[in-house]
Amino acid sequence: MSAPPLPSASAAPALPTGDAAAPGVQAVFGPIDLSGATPLAQGGDRYVFQHPHEPGLLIKVMDMQARAVYLQARPFKRWYKQFQRESAYRVYLNEFSEYVCTTTRPSGVWQVPMARILGAAQTSLGLGLLVERISDGNGGLAPTVADLARQGRFTVTLAAKLDEFFADLADAHLVIHDMSASNVACGYNAEGRPGLYLVDGFGVLPLIPIHAWSRWLNRRRVMRKYAALRARMPAPVPDPD
Ligand SMILES: Nc1ncnc2c1ncn2[C@@H]1O[C@H](COP(=O)(O)OP(=O)(O)O)[C@@H](O)[C@H]1O
Ligand SMILES: [Mg+2]
Repeated sequence: MSAPPLPSASAAPALPTGDAAAPGVQAVFGPIDLSGATPLAQGGDRYVFQHPHEPGLLIKVMDMQARAVYLQARPFKRWYKQFQRESAYRVYLNEFSEYVCTTTRPSGVWQVPMARILGAAQTSLGLGLLVERISDGNGGLAPTVADLARQGRFTVTLAAKLDEFFADLADAHLVIHDMSASNVACGYNAEGRPGLYLVDGFGVLPLIPIHAWSRWLNRRRVMRKYAALRARMPAPVPDPD
């Protein structure tokens, strides 16, 4: 059997040459200039910026200084990290992989309560992760459950919602590695739907990922970690009238 003929150069569809990039291309792909921007929030590992062109999106970039300080004190980790090509950006892959796994597998949860991940874009501060912004409904970022607890606003209703939230995440077989009240935002998603949303601390870290393999083992671990988190939280206060 003879191979099909290769298309000749003259038959190939003309590629647009010399055209200016379509408007909006740089706004989407980057590079996005964050040099003059002030972060809206900061965690232990990342800075969180407003996306300059899309109100419903945030850009997370790595805090390389914090990472250097962290690795400075951990020579073994520093040594083996040199074999991981994704380097500091491994967290993006873990989060994205967990997001894909839990949102595409059938589960008892209709919509997994997490801030959605859109992808990555180049920025002036390195590769940025594009994520759904959870807002406070007044133009600001949503407070986290940790913020609310600090302000004495960890109410009976919020505590019950938090119980339900982690039960839903366990039903969705979401693997959590950093269970923290500062990783749960309480506000409105991009569609304006109110609720609790997981913004960080998910993904599979160990080499032998037993909690990714077993929903039952994962549920047991989520519930154990959640019980420890609740024990660290203040007692719920009555709801305001
Ligand atoms: N999608 C989001 N919507 C609203 N606020 C967010 C979102 N993601 C992060 N934040 C805020 O930014 C803080 C730091 O982000 P986080 O992803 O937790 O960074 P780190 O990995 O450094 O802990 C969070 O504690 C939260 O206050
Ligand atoms: Mg965090």
